[in-house]
Amino acid sequence: MEGFFITFEGPEGAGKTTQIKMLEPWLASKGRQYITTREPGGTPLAEKIRDVVKHYNNSGEQVYDKTELLLFAASRAQHVHFLIRRELDAGKVVLCDRFTDSTLAYQGYARNGNIKFIEALNHYAVEGLKPNLTILMDLPPSSGRERTSHRPETQGVHDRLEAETLDFHEKVRQGYLELARKNPDRIKTVDASRNPEQIHVDIIKILEEQYEF
Ligand SMILES: Nc1ncnc2c1ncn2[C@@H]1O[C@H](COP(=O)(O)OP(=O)(O)OP(=O)(O)O)[C@@H](O)[C@H]1O
Ligand SMILES: [Mg+2]
Repeated sequence: MEGFFITFEGPEGAGKTTQIKMLEPWLASKGRQYITTREPGGTPLAEKIRDVVKHYNNSGEQVYDKTELLLFAASRAQHVHFLIRRELDAGKVVLCDRFTDSTLAYQGYARNGNIKFIEALNHYAVEGLKPNLTILMDLPPSSGRERTSHRPETQGVHDRLEAETLDFHEKVRQGYLELARKNPDRIKTVDASRNPEQIHVDIIKILEEQYEF
């Protein structure tokens, strides 16, 4: 069986991790082998970069926008080269919590980075790999913030990017929607404001009806 690469995108608190957890047993019930991974991260080195990029906090030194962008790209190159490619070649479904579109939405659209350059950098990092399907979980930033501030796992503590203003997160959302308009075949948008079961049904429908799972 051929590998199949699914990425989950959307703002903090949209329910990406929740939906991936719900999709895992469904894939197993279909007899598909899968792995779940995340960005930034996914390999030991990439996870170290994740820790820096999410939690580096030193009042004497800010993380410069270009540094942030390059750290994400470095983590991604490592992740694709040593993990994702191998699992896809082995015929598995790869579920990835965030991927290239996050960099475009956050470092590109929200931080006013150079979109063309980020596209080229993404392409360089992933050596041309593209998700077969991207689920964009669309949610107003205020709802995402509300959800993560009650999240038991992190006890409401926000990381460096989560701590950005609502205005920043609105730009992230608009960036994602623009990406969905530009890539209608790959990116499927689901309304993430509903309950987890309804969203899960939408995602399964996409996989069954459009990808013959
Ligand atoms: N559809 C939903 N409706 C209400 N609450 C939800 C829904 N989906 C997830 N939640 C809850 O909201 C919080 C955030 O969900 P989750 O961690 O899955 O989001 P996420 O998109 O992975 O966020 P992040 O980008 O911060 O990792 C969790 O406490 C989760 O239980
Ligand atoms: Mg998550």
